[in-house]
Amino acid sequence: MTSLHSKLPGVGTTIFTVMSQLAQECGAINLSQGYPDFDPPPGLLDRVEFHLRRGGNQYAPMAGTPALCRAIAGKTQALYGREVDPAEEITVTSGATEALFAAVQAFVGPGQQAIIFDPAYDSYEPSIRLAGGEAVRIPLLAPDFAVDWDRVAHAINDRTALIILNSPHNPTGAVLSAEDLDTLALLLRDTPIKILSDEVYEHIVFDGRTHQSMLRHDELSLRSLVVSSFGKTFHATGWKVGYMVAPPALTAEFRKVHQFCQFCVVSPIQNALADFLQSDPGHYLGLPDFYQQKRDLFRRLMSRTPLQLLPARGTYFQCVDYRGVSDEEDTGFARRLTRELGVAAIPVSVFYQHPPDQRILRFCFAKDDATLERAAAKLAGLEPVSA
Ligand SMILES: Cc1ncc(COP(=O)(O)O)c(C=O)c1O
Repeated sequence: MTSLHSKLPGVGTTIFTVMSQLAQECGAINLSQGYPDFDPPPGLLDRVEFHLRRGGNQYAPMAGTPALCRAIAGKTQALYGREVDPAEEITVTSGATEALFAAVQAFVGPGQQAIIFDPAYDSYEPSIRLAGGEAVRIPLLAPDFAVDWDRVAHAINDRTALIILNSPHNPTGAVLSAEDLDTLALLLRDTPIKILSDEVYEHIVFDGRTHQSMLRHDELSLRSLVVSSFGKTFHATGWKVGYMVAPPALTAEFRKVHQFCQFCVVSPIQNALADFLQSDPGHYLGLPDFYQQKRDLFRRLMSRTPLQLLPARGTYFQCVDYRGVSDEEDTGFARRLTRELGVAAIPVSVFYQHPPDQRILRFCFAKDDATLERAAAKLAGLEPVSA
């Protein structure tokens, strides 16, 4: 037998797959993986059906259909006040995952470093390693999970090629502020460092906050690759359609990778998204309210459990501190919760390189109200540990 040299030793099946499988085996309510249990808007489904039957089923242009790129440019201008050239600054990708992967391959090389923040979305580090680079991980700490910019300043050096930011943040629901962006701009001034900004939850921010997209910032937008996901925005995570917005020179490099790892993205869905973005901007404009109602319901229901709710400022995730219930480490506790109580969640330690001494689980509340009610009723059965 020939010997096998893994390029990603130590990487196993993602926790999302593991917990979803366990939930299925146990017949548990699955609040672990981040996807809605409701359908995309009917008007969008009608447009998909229309385009499937109309015959636009062959390869789309490599960068995306012109109509969808124009619709994305319109949305970018309307939301963030930034005019972008649909032909040179927008690329439609196979989900945000492909955009993130291709951007890392394009901008991180052997011997270079990329700064990421723990807890970090699980695709970042393997992408960096496959590019031959090194991930430098800076922890974000509970309960606010804010970025410690002094630590970032200390981490930056001549080998730093990229900083990957994610706001609104999965798994913690933390959001960057306008001051964060100004601080970052100062730190990066006179450096060639690029920003890869994972903004897949751009439309899910609460309590009247404004999403601080890198696209809003005159200085940072010049060095930023901004990623979004139609899966998150249109309750259609299974479609795996997302996009990248970046200045022309960065887009040109990004497309050199995109064209060989994906080439182009499913045509009828691109055409349908182009139509729907134009005809129904109310869908994404209404998402903050839609998800805030779910967050508020879930928090109200969960306040009847002995779990302590952490702040939830954006995304469709709610983190809880379960120290009042158990001191068990979180992967074991999450499994036990799934098997014994019938509710699956994600242990937050798996998003860290060096998990801090905390006991936190992440629940996804992108579910029907009845599902959230059933889950919270089960969690209300948890016994507080006596002092
Ligand atoms: C922070 C973050 N980035 C990227 C993705 C991947 O998005 P997509 O499904 O569009 O590839 C997700 C999905 O959960 C996510 O939470």
